[in-house]
Amino acid sequence: MNQQTEKIYEHALEVLKENDQGSYTVPTKGLYPFQWNWDSCLTALGQFHYDEARAWTEIETLFANQWPDGMVPHIVFHVYSDGYFPGPNVWDTRRPTPTSGITQPPVAGFAIKRLYDRATDKAEAARRARALLPRIDAWHRWFYEMRDPGHEGLVAILHPWESGRDNSIDWDEAFERVPTDGVEPYVRRDTQHADPAHRPTKAQYDRYLYLVQLFRSLGWDNARLHDASPFKVVDPGFNAILIRSAMDLAALADELGEPELAARNRARAENSLAALETLWSDKHQQYLCRDRVTGQLIDSASIGGILPVFAAVPKARAEAIARTIERWANEVKYMVPSHDPADPRFEPKRYWRAPAWLVMNYMIQDGLRSAGETAMADRIVTSSLELITQSGFAEYYDPTTGEPCGGGRFTWTAAMVIEFLEAA
Ligand code: GLC
Repeated sequence: MNQQTEKIYEHALEVLKENDQGSYTVPTKGLYPFQWNWDSCLTALGQFHYDEARAWTEIETLFANQWPDGMVPHIVFHVYSDGYFPGPNVWDTRRPTPTSGITQPPVAGFAIKRLYDRATDKAEAARRARALLPRIDAWHRWFYEMRDPGHEGLVAILHPWESGRDNSIDWDEAFERVPTDGVEPYVRRDTQHADPAHRPTKAQYDRYLYLVQLFRSLGWDNARLHDASPFKVVDPGFNAILIRSAMDLAALADELGEPELAARNRARAENSLAALETLWSDKHQQYLCRDRVTGQLIDSASIGGILPVFAAVPKARAEAIARTIERWANEVKYMVPSHDPADPRFEPKRYWRAPAWLVMNYMIQDGLRSAGETAMADRIVTSSLELITQSGFAEYYDPTTGEPCGGGRFTWTAAMVIEFLEAA
């Protein structure tokens, strides 16, 4: 590492440490003052490089709040803060430690395999991984039971926040069907911490809350939510993460002497990988979402349909996706925009409607590398580090200018930078 990269590394460590609450890490102070599901799993990868034990704790704390039915919630409200809306009273899930009632991309299987593979104390890592295996397996089972009742091999999200790509253009059309009547009056907090022009709109927020209220009125009974929800979308990116985690959990379970758990997860991954092909679009040369209410593919070329490279898709698909990324990259300054820049709906500063996010870059470059698309993977890493050098550890970036957007001093951005620099 040269002097400049050393400085960046030091800075990244600082961000991780200042957001560390002891047994979990907040994504950033102010805007997100609790534990977020996939943030924590990806953050653990960065923490590993300075404290292996602490990295395992991050994921264990999340799983200590798993629901009895197997779901792992998207937020755990460890310590009350009125700086975030919707808080625990709105969700009203009645968990011992309050949590939200929806989930997030299941990246835990992938994360613990990576922690285990790199562990210096293998016996300790095996002990901690072994305790998490059945919990992650139960979460995967939950997905197929509760979110794929028709046995399509692909799971649906019931709320845009579950995708992790909150206000993506992917949800616009399906969201039109979500009513807003009966939404209780509320005051947003996100727009007090970040520029409102970068955040979801009021109309979107009303619908987010309609769904929360509907699910709450059904007692958060997951056996009822899928059929009752007016919003059900099959997101290729979300499914790709589940597939990759199931594959990785299977490999790890084999290594740790759990062949049945391994076989279950391998079967899930293979079945879903085959089903994913029904989402391929020749027109866009990437995967698309399917609206499970209408049965139609959604004509929206977002990063959700690029992310399947993370899940060992067929080689020809990975090659096509690398070319699609190249086409996008030629129209912006920094990679990877979260939406096709040629789409008139592209909004460079608004959250998931175009901006670049380092966690996406990390997963995409990882998949491209495994598929042999090394040059494109390297380009993405270089672009990510340029963004940090220019704009610091932001939540996300305008891909046309590199301007930092959303929250600052952001945990998972810092964790991904440490990962990139460690691999360099
Ligand atoms: C936003 C992002 C989501 C992330 C959360 C905390 O809601 O869309 O992916 O988990 O912030 O960082």
